[in-house]
Amino acid sequence: MKILVTGGTGFIGSHTSVELIEKGYDVIILDNLCNSDASVNSIIDSITNKSHVFYKTDLLDEDGIERVFSENEIDAVIHFAGLKAVGESVQMPLEYYNNNITGTLNLLKVMRAHGCKKLVFSSSATVYGVPKSVPIKEDFPLSTTNPYGSTKLMIERILTDLCAADKEFDVTLLRYFNPVGAHPSGLLGDNPTHPNNLMPRIVDAALGKTEALTVYGTDYPTRDGTGVRDYIHVMDLAHGHIKALEHMGGMKIYNLGTGNGQSVLDLVKSFERVNGVKVPCVNMPRREGDVAECYADASKAERELGWKATRDVDDMCRSTWNFALKSRK
Ligand code: WQD
Repeated sequence: MKILVTGGTGFIGSHTSVELIEKGYDVIILDNLCNSDASVNSIIDSITNKSHVFYKTDLLDEDGIERVFSENEIDAVIHFAGLKAVGESVQMPLEYYNNNITGTLNLLKVMRAHGCKKLVFSSSATVYGVPKSVPIKEDFPLSTTNPYGSTKLMIERILTDLCAADKEFDVTLLRYFNPVGAHPSGLLGDNPTHPNNLMPRIVDAALGKTEALTVYGTDYPTRDGTGVRDYIHVMDLAHGHIKALEHMGGMKIYNLGTGNGQSVLDLVKSFERVNGVKVPCVNMPRREGDVAECYADASKAERELGWKATRDVDDMCRSTWNFALKSRK
């Protein structure tokens, strides 16, 4: 099968592309490289010892998408491409709506024109807003607190309406919790140009690139007062996409998480213990828009996809540090 991976040189897209290729799929990567580097393509090829097709294309360029589909018989699409920084989306809502929504609409129109009607969409736990309770199930109420999250929710609604109108479309929505970790080779990992998320900021503090990790809020109603999240290893996430591809049929929705909540201090302590490093911390007030606790009930994916996260927090911390040491400039 030929799979188009949009955003395939990004953090989750690159790890998923490696796993797809190693499973025998033919992979075509489309990426505009706004938040990743073209060199990831050769890293993917060196890990898999195979080659793949790459198109430097922006989803706002409909002719560019048309070229990809006219030059390749694509069986299914895994759609990662999109802007994804929560804070930035509050500052630049128009850019986020245009890039994420218009880009997706362009992709869907070309897919339909070429009779390609299988899509796995990279959604996010952010569509649950402030959860009424934890763990979170797929049928929980949906709401968003920032433009980034709203683009994910709107795309879910577009895809739901498309499946209702055209029964030939098979769409699976995967709602990720907090992706972390790196490929065991240490050649691929999360290397954001402007780190916003906790794990890359822990790495920067451990490397001494920053004075200390800023802990946003120590007064949450959690066991140690810091925010609790469901951190999931990117390799488990990649395997979740393969399972989703193998079980497509109509509109399906799954949480991809571990079902366990880790606090900020839990993660810092694990990182220090596993890697034998110190992570200086400084306590600050809560970050705007953060929730106290957010972790998944992942039992539906286990029941219906036969998928379960297997990698633990220690491996998340170990693989992250291994990649950081290998990739630091
Ligand atoms: C995790 C915890 C912070 C940074 C976001 C998006 C979600 C997904 C993952 C894209 C919180 C605390 C963080 C720091 C800290 N992204 N923290 N100091 O906000 O749960 O989720 O990223 O798909 O959609 O919403 O992730 O890593 O930013 O924060 O104390 O320097 O770490 O307060 O409790 P978040 P995060």
